[in-house]
Amino acid sequence: MPPVLDLADVDLENDVFAKRIPHETFALLRRDAPVWWYDWRGGKGFWCITKHADLVAVSRDTKTFSSEVGGANLEDLDEDARVVRQSMLETDPPRHTRLRGLVGPPFTPRAVKAYELALRELTKEILDRALPLGEFDFIEAIAKELPIRVLARLLGVPESDNQKLIDWGDRMIANTDPDYADVLHDSPESDRYRLLPFRSPAALELFEYAHRIAAERRERPADDLVSKLVHAEIDGERLTEREFDTMFLLLVVAGNETTRQAIAHGMATLMEERHEWDRLQEDPSLISATGADEILRWSTPVLHFRRTATTDVEIRGQAIRAGDKVVIWYVSANFDEEVFDEPLRFDVGRSPNRHVTFGGGGPHYCLGAHLAKLEVQVMFEELLPRIADMELTGPLQRMRTNFTNALKRMPVCVTLA
Ligand code: HEM
Repeated sequence: MPPVLDLADVDLENDVFAKRIPHETFALLRRDAPVWWYDWRGGKGFWCITKHADLVAVSRDTKTFSSEVGGANLEDLDEDARVVRQSMLETDPPRHTRLRGLVGPPFTPRAVKAYELALRELTKEILDRALPLGEFDFIEAIAKELPIRVLARLLGVPESDNQKLIDWGDRMIANTDPDYADVLHDSPESDRYRLLPFRSPAALELFEYAHRIAAERRERPADDLVSKLVHAEIDGERLTEREFDTMFLLLVVAGNETTRQAIAHGMATLMEERHEWDRLQEDPSLISATGADEILRWSTPVLHFRRTATTDVEIRGQAIRAGDKVVIWYVSANFDEEVFDEPLRFDVGRSPNRHVTFGGGGPHYCLGAHLAKLEVQVMFEELLPRIADMELTGPLQRMRTNFTNALKRMPVCVTLA
């Protein structure tokens, strides 16, 4: 039996998530305090929203719960930092509507469907290279590779730069993990970088890279997303240089680590839940029908995002004041007993499955949702028939962060089918 927790014991700091997802804490919050004030050690406290229905309502009400006023992350931003670091994710309509219109077309279900063949070829190439090694780190050799290669193709950047993009993305998103961060986000030294996204010097390197690519595509447009972004016009207006930089950075960060984690957790869980692996092996059509969605629910790669209340408001009778931080925990909503039958059971046939892994709806709903789901689906469709067995040869290691559900090491050995 898990320990009976008291609300006074609720701990949502990075170190907790370095060990595991504290599901019992979220279950307690959902049951006893679904709108709970948390005294965060990293800055001003925040309200935790842990119920599925509340997360959906907050996500859709951008007037009351702004992404622009205080940003999408926990950090308390001074006005100068807020303005220079702002990406599409940190805007509200109407500014958001304009940016999303510019970047949206390559991510529609129809556009994504058209990449399926190429995506499958890339997946096969990755598996052809990794699986014969016999023993390898699943994240390094497989899970990391597919999302970045797909993204590089979409953006139109050379494959030889993939490793650089991966490193920049890791250094930014893992800014609370000493294995990756140049300067730990929760250390006083990071103040030097407060005007950069994620307080990370890697952002500066990525911006310089983005400038170079943009300049090339202005001169010589190609059929890729960077060319579209530098030339696109809405009402005679183009993206400003800063808007382009932050959009490029957002795509690299958002499209890279997240899908990697869904693939890694998916495989880690199938190794543990062998009967579910067997079900997918016996009926591969389950992968696209329900399995990929269950992997996405179970892995919840983005644990939370933040909004800021623009006015005094109540949720479930709890008063929230204008200016308060409101944090929506996807990882709690995805295990809400009111929405999911036996939520802590991994069930590749789960239906219905109203997971909020890509958001609760509303204008910020993940731009890459169709693409990410297709990547997860194709990866397991191609991988499972090729292997008779896969086992861990050492412990899984997690990143030290309460922002993403991130594995950093997953040593495995594989027996080919
Ligand atoms: C399993 C993989 C992924 C997960 C779990 C994920 C999750 C999310 C979440 C939770 C949001 C915020 C939703 C909201 O606030 O309502 C989001 C937004 C976003 N995602 Fe994803 N994402 C994934 C893959 C991708 C990919 C592959 C791309 C692009 C190549 C991408 C690009 C974006 C962008 C640009 C936004 C901001 C959208 C906006 O502000 O309008 N994501 N994602």
